[in-house]
Amino acid sequence: MDRYGSDTYGRSFADVYDEWYGDLDDLAVLIELLAELADGGPVCELGVGTGRIAIPLAATGVDVIGVDASSEMLARLVAQDPLATVTPVLGDMVDDIPTGPFSMILIAFNTLFNLTEPQRQADCVKTAAQRLRAGGCLVIDGIVPEVHEMGVAAGLVVDDVSIRELCIDKVVLSIARHHLETQMAEGQFIEFTETGGVRLRPWKARYSSPDEIDAMAHAAGLALEYRWASPERAAFSATSRRHISVYRLGSTGAP
Ligand SMILES: C[S@@+](CC[C@H](N)C(=O)[O-])C[C@H]1O[C@@H](n2cnc3c(N)ncnc32)[C@H](O)[C@@H]1O
Repeated sequence: MDRYGSDTYGRSFADVYDEWYGDLDDLAVLIELLAELADGGPVCELGVGTGRIAIPLAATGVDVIGVDASSEMLARLVAQDPLATVTPVLGDMVDDIPTGPFSMILIAFNTLFNLTEPQRQADCVKTAAQRLRAGGCLVIDGIVPEVHEMGVAAGLVVDDVSIRELCIDKVVLSIARHHLETQMAEGQFIEFTETGGVRLRPWKARYSSPDEIDAMAHAAGLALEYRWASPERAAFSATSRRHISVYRLGSTGAP
């Protein structure tokens, strides 16, 4: 997908993000977990979006800075945070991570995969580690990509079309293409309405496996401390489709 930049996702999804993804998790459980890991703060969330997590996390009493490449996403955050409890930073999640040092840096809900080159993901993890205080943690939440061994061997591309919404005056279709060999996925949500015509919402992601993320973290001087399958701290197993991984920086800091 050409002309896809770091702000494309936010520009395309900001208006529907909370409606579509606002109830992804039991937020109370997730926030309790993150507040415990934050250990008093300060916290930085990379790809903070509309503040789905950052605003309730700040309400627990920790200072939260949120970085996002999309002014549309940050405008939603600011509108939903009248007391300005979260500090928004318009910038890139690799190049513009504030100095900190932070007790916790969070990369939630597949946001690492918005960086569509593995090297940029590694650079993000490395820079995040350098912005942690000694003993701080990096939390990464993402799906576990399914491994299609046959597909990888054949260089298979998997196409998918499904219906997201179907009502009397609106249809939202999801079309996606997965390039199994390169672990790239891209797609469009296509909205048809009688009054508004057609609206496209493009997305693009490079999925990395937990093992690949572990290697990035290891190279950045971080050690895996916990890996859960859910915010409820369900045990992670070979069949888990999601991981919440906590990487800890040692007492001597990042290399
Ligand atoms: C899937 S959303 C997650 C939002 C929020 N963390 C949550 O869990 O609800 C990904 C966010 O990352 C932002 N993003 C994508 N690429 C980015 C980049 N290179 N630098 C900073 N933010 C980026 C998008 O604008 C979007 O707000």
